[in-house]
Amino acid sequence: MNDSHQRRQSPRLWILLSGLIGAASLSVFGQARVPAPGPASRADFAPKPPVTAKTAEEQAKTFVLPPGYRMELVLSDPDIDTPAVVEFDGNGRMFVVELRGYEQTLDGIDAIAPLYPSSNPQLNRELAQVLIYLGAPGVVQKTVDLLSRAETQEEQIHYVFHLRTVKSGWTPEDREKYFAWFKRDRAKDKRSPELTKWFADVGRDQTDGSSFPKFMANIKKDAVATLSDAEKTQLASLIATDAVVQRPTAERKFVKEWTMADIVPSLAEAASGRNFRRGREAFTTTQCILCHKFGTEGGSVGPDITGAASRFNRRDLLETIIEPSKVISDQYQNITVTKKNGDEVTGRLVEENEQRLVLLANPLTTDRTELKKSDVAKRTPSKLSPMPEGLVNTLTKEEILDLLAYIEAGGKREHAAFAR
Ligand code: HEC
Repeated sequence: MNDSHQRRQSPRLWILLSGLIGAASLSVFGQARVPAPGPASRADFAPKPPVTAKTAEEQAKTFVLPPGYRMELVLSDPDIDTPAVVEFDGNGRMFVVELRGYEQTLDGIDAIAPLYPSSNPQLNRELAQVLIYLGAPGVVQKTVDLLSRAETQEEQIHYVFHLRTVKSGWTPEDREKYFAWFKRDRAKDKRSPELTKWFADVGRDQTDGSSFPKFMANIKKDAVATLSDAEKTQLASLIATDAVVQRPTAERKFVKEWTMADIVPSLAEAASGRNFRRGREAFTTTQCILCHKFGTEGGSVGPDITGAASRFNRRDLLETIIEPSKVISDQYQNITVTKKNGDEVTGRLVEENEQRLVLLANPLTTDRTELKKSDVAKRTPSKLSPMPEGLVNTLTKEEILDLLAYIEAGGKREHAAFAR
């Protein structure tokens, strides 16, 4: 900071006289400061000699400035927010005791609410958070309006997130707008330039991250919890939860219990003349999408396989599908717990403390199995992958090749394998 900056920052000469009644202090044509309440500001009513006012020049000499700073006396209009006492002295000078906080709510809503909404998105984000917390009148409507106008998903989520626990101040229309947001056409969301650049820098398509749908579902759950029964009925169609990922609906017939040897000789055929639509359909109907993030959608039971082609050659990719337990990535490995009575339970360890273990046996449900540690004899890494075997047994060989091409193409229709 140079000295001209310093002048711009504080156009007024601040003169603070201490020792006045309680928390109040005196300002001479300026702003008084209210010291933070605490033991140090206890009132002292003992008689004192009158405070003799110094001239501004005299007062200025008592200021200690860091090296490189210079202070200039400038004229300024009195800027007095909350005068409590105004007196003139014998020389005709006006003294004002200003009580910051006087006639304001303790938390200062009155001071900041009028600033909201501002024309600055960053400031609005901060104000939304504070004013929602303070329950400022009208804040819900203003924030819902900002939500409707916010262009980027990041900005929208900020408002949606902070509004989620607000119980009162909603009109039915604002409630509707709020819940409709979760079903909006996301193609209309703009991308923030920073975010776009981060993805571009690492050469990847912009995605939301695999936990995104869950975060949104949690925000919505909190918001639904603030609704009255009447509101829930009224908003039923908007708050109905869609499965995070559409479950496959098509019933498929068993084709063959495919082995590596059946397909490996044909693997070269996955490189060209493939059918994109059939590949994509296979990915859904054989449930891959329920467990794997692929591009911008999919579940998170297993790893993101958008870029699987860069980690696996075609043969190994086929092997992960036909023989999932041959190589199990340890991050996803299940454990088998053997109880003292001989029973075994296999699943993903999702919670552990001194007394108990919690296992998730089926990754696609929320059925949890609790085990007392005192009942456990041993636990071993499971040799079975959480990814089921035989998923592609309802596909024809051609469809399996389409599926491989679809994964290798990262889900992109423009890929050479689909060229006609
Ligand atoms: C019930 C959940 C589930 C389903 C359904 C599922 N997978 Fe998996 N998959 C997993 C898990 C968990 C892993 C990681 C454990 C492992 O390596 O065996 C995995 C691993 C993989 C891997 C290796 C990824 C890596 O980076 O190591 C590929 C590729 C893969 N699956 C493809 C598929 C395809 C294709 C389908 C559909 C035919 C599918 N998966 C269906 C759960 C599933």
